[in-house]
Amino acid sequence: MSEDGTVEQVLDRARWAPSGDNTQPWRFELLGGHRFRIHAHDTRDWCVYDLEGHASQIAVGALMETIALAASAVKLEARFMLDQTVAETNLSIDVELVARKGVTPDPLQAFIEQRMTQRRPFSSAPLKDDHKRSLESAVGPGYRVIWIEGPKKKRQMAKLLFRNAHIRLTIKEAYEVHRRIIEWDAQFSEDRIPDQALGLDAMTLMSMRWAMASWGRVQFLNRWLAGTLLPRLQMDLLPGLGCAAHFVLVAEHKPDDVAGRLAAGRAVQRLWLACTADNIQFQPEQTPIIFSDYVQKGIRFTASDAAVAEAVQMRADLTVLVGKVNLAHAVFAGRIGYGPGPAARSLRLPLPKLLLS
Ligand SMILES: Cc1cc2nc3c(=O)[nH]c(=O)nc-3n(C[C@H](O)[C@H](O)[C@H](O)COP(=O)(O)O)c2cc1C
Repeated sequence: MSEDGTVEQVLDRARWAPSGDNTQPWRFELLGGHRFRIHAHDTRDWCVYDLEGHASQIAVGALMETIALAASAVKLEARFMLDQTVAETNLSIDVELVARKGVTPDPLQAFIEQRMTQRRPFSSAPLKDDHKRSLESAVGPGYRVIWIEGPKKKRQMAKLLFRNAHIRLTIKEAYEVHRRIIEWDAQFSEDRIPDQALGLDAMTLMSMRWAMASWGRVQFLNRWLAGTLLPRLQMDLLPGLGCAAHFVLVAEHKPDDVAGRLAAGRAVQRLWLACTADNIQFQPEQTPIIFSDYVQKGIRFTASDAAVAEAVQMRADLTVLVGKVNLAHAVFAGRIGYGPGPAARSLRLPLPKLLLS
């Protein structure tokens, strides 16, 4: 325990940072005084969505931003030092919380615990102009928000998501991930995504649960009973239409190192929290960006030739929709809109489980 409990207080809030599939790829080591170390690991060895650890690095960036915000609430400034000597797969970041005159609580800190992922359709009413402006400025210098809005573009994006989901639902590599990260029969989950937060109706959840007991069942359902149709309709097509807009967060300078992706993660978290502050729902749509990156890098992500071909086509469609340069600099994508928050959500591991002794 730190002398005055400040570090624990900050970390207890910061652990609510989002991470891909709620993996929380971080642990904390207390170093005495107002200092601690973040030990982060990526999940590339088992998660097809964590291409070269990028998704984990974005999550760690979101964690850093959340630490900075939680520190501001107690009028401290968080200073970060990334250890450049360790492998990218196991980042080590030293953090010091420093008292500095003029530090005041950042307004976004109030929304750390309320921020969450809503995977069900929102209202399709367009974004109000003042909301758009406040979100565009929340990401800070060096980042731009590209909007995909209006009925025609939203339709194109919804179709793209529907086709993209076919990749997700038909490759064994993704099946292995889904098996590991879904907690069945759950409204809340400390270390995974509860099935009730996936955005599926009860019948579809039941058939998905039955199928996911084995890869053979998934293949059977997909081949003979159009098994991907209802999940793609409910998780991709309808939410793709049911939103105010889709967005792509674009970095001015292509983030091609760890520091760049950590910085991008900080911008993602600011955008997400600014949505929460304005009562705007948010769902990341990161898998088109990820599969597109696999194609661009020429890295094979699956044994299925058909899925690789689908990803090549999806990338071509995404390029038309957002532009070649924007796609090359894209760090995050999602959809936002007005409407009620989710009834089911991911929780977090309690702080003692995240602290290294
Ligand atoms: C880098 C990153 C990528 C994510 N990608 C997706 C995604 O493609 N689809 C999705 O529904 N949620 C995605 N999420 C949301 C996480 O699943 C979610 O943040 C996590 O389960 C915790 O839940 P919460 O946001 O409700 O607290 C992503 C989150 C992060 C940080």
